[in-house]
Amino acid sequence: MREIKEVKPEVKPFQDLAKWATKAPEGEKLISTAYGDKVTKDLKFVDNKPGVHKPDPILVADHVTRKFGGMTAVDVEHFEIERHGITALIGPNGAGKTTFFNLMTGFDTPNTGEWRFDGRDMAHMQPEKVARMGMVRTFQLTKVMSRLTVLDNMLLGAPVQPGEGMFRSLIPGLWKKQEQENVEKAEALLERFLLIKKKDDFAGSLSGGQRKLLEMARALMRDPKLVMLDEPMAGVNPALKQSLLDHIMSLREEGTTVLFVEHDINMVRHIADWVTVMAEGKIVAEGQPKSVMNDPAVIDAYLGAHANIDLGDDSVLDLKESEEH
Ligand SMILES: Nc1ncnc2c1ncn2[C@@H]1O[C@H](COP(=O)(O)OP(=O)(O)OP(=O)(O)O)[C@@H](O)[C@H]1O
Ligand SMILES: [Mg+2]
Repeated sequence: MREIKEVKPEVKPFQDLAKWATKAPEGEKLISTAYGDKVTKDLKFVDNKPGVHKPDPILVADHVTRKFGGMTAVDVEHFEIERHGITALIGPNGAGKTTFFNLMTGFDTPNTGEWRFDGRDMAHMQPEKVARMGMVRTFQLTKVMSRLTVLDNMLLGAPVQPGEGMFRSLIPGLWKKQEQENVEKAEALLERFLLIKKKDDFAGSLSGGQRKLLEMARALMRDPKLVMLDEPMAGVNPALKQSLLDHIMSLREEGTTVLFVEHDINMVRHIADWVTVMAEGKIVAEGQPKSVMNDPAVIDAYLGAHANIDLGDDSVLDLKESEEH
């Protein structure tokens, strides 16, 4: 009789996210949903109300306002983002979501307000320093450099070494090693985001969706503690969308906290641990994805903007799926 050898699945290192995610590829086991489970448990008992306190916030903002002329674009009284969670920031066009991102990450200056990231005061900090602290964002309108290659765009996302300049440049061994590590990291991320074949192409030749992926991959060059994605799914084709969703969920399992803006409420309901709703600059509702869409304040906010928005009615999803089959 032939001996049957027990084949033990090789356990991938925790960081090797391309090989697993929410749905492990065939033959591989999902390693962990530990952070997802913890966040679900922790947020279960948090009230669904705007500005509510959370058990373990990584970002805490207070009295943040931004006015453009006579118009108040952001007026956030209190907002907390739960560590290790995936928080969706939703709201109609012009609600102030992008402006809020700009303020938190140092790309714009508020009229009033303070915010702490991981316990540190972040007001008046330049974007580069904010990124160095571990808070990295992507842009709604991608900011990839069209005339640089995909790989060079990635390398632009690499952290600036504190000693860069005269001293380091005198010791080639030091920066060569760093450079090599950056290239390896960039290539691993490009692999994960299915862009590796394009690494030597100009970023300008990428499709809109691929640019979104490149921006997200570039943000990860810094191993952020909090990644803020401004409409990461916009313009990405449906096949890539699924893998992007998996990437976002696998980020959580790596320990990264995610805040993302998204208009497709069905997407939000599928991946978010928590949903925060902005309208006219204010946070008007917060809560579990399942219940927040039924909040009258949310319905009001959207009805004020578009009369016929789909607020995540599952029957619509079923209909779409059955049309596809
Ligand atoms: N630099 C600026 N100068 C003047 N007004 C601005 C500026 N940036 C944003 N605004 C205004 O502030 C408000 C909030 O805009 P913001 O881009 O933050 O909204 P948003 O929620 O990101 O919308 P969308 O979903 O369309 O991206 C809008 O009324 C917008 O016109
Ligand atoms: Mg926006």
